Amino acid sequence: MRLDRYISNSGYATRSEVKKLIRSGAVLVNGKTVKAPDMHIDENADTVTVGGKEIRYKKYVYLMLNKPAGYVSATEDKHYKTVTELAGDEYKGYDLFPVGRLDIDTEGLLVLTNDGAFAHNVISPKKNIYKKYFAVLDKDAEDKDIEEFKKGMIFDDFTAKSAVLTITGKRNEVYIEIAEGKFHQVKRMCKRVGKEVLYLKRVSIGSLELDKDLEPGVVKELTEDEINLIFG
Ligand code: URA
Repeated sequence: MRLDRYISNSGYATRSEVKKLIRSGAVLVNGKTVKAPDMHIDENADTVTVGGKEIRYKKYVYLMLNKPAGYVSATEDKHYKTVTELAGDEYKGYDLFPVGRLDIDTEGLLVLTNDGAFAHNVISPKKNIYKKYFAVLDKDAEDKDIEEFKKGMIFDDFTAKSAVLTITGKRNEVYIEIAEGKFHQVKRMCKRVGKEVLYLKRVSIGSLELDKDLEPGVVKELTEDEINLIFG
């Protein structure tokens, strides 16, 4: 692999910044200064340091974000701040994107990655991975709503599979589990039973729960065990 790609894929800096670093003499391969960004290195055998710090290559990254309201689930946007901006400089070299979308006003668990196959597996309705949301409604949920959610719902553009509505001690505060993630799905399902969603937060994907210690707007890298919880 090219030296500049190896360093940028490690998340250290962007490709153009990496080129400058290499040309400035800050990069050593096996202890020797290298000034050619296109030098080929063996990612399993060579040791690369930048300013004395060893760089470890990671092809894919998986981040848990506690999404705050006010950010769009996109990589670029003309008008709004994007969720990928929240990953910070450390992950600049990766082409991160959000796994599925949360509305601009929705908060909570969002995974950012650069692994397209993984993202597909999480999002695909065929994989039946349930996403759980906490919602505050404008009215109290009724027991008959539970049945409506359970039956699934037919919309013009898609059919929502059987969903789970759980009413908490406060009847206008509910948990909703859905197997898909269509545009405004939770809000549309609630509307179908005559309720508006006033507040929405995703709390889990599969068995992976939002880390309660993760502040809004902050990311943390997922461990392999945590990634497996999504599918487990
Ligand atoms: N359903 C919605 O209506 N909005 C979201 O952000 C996610 C699911």
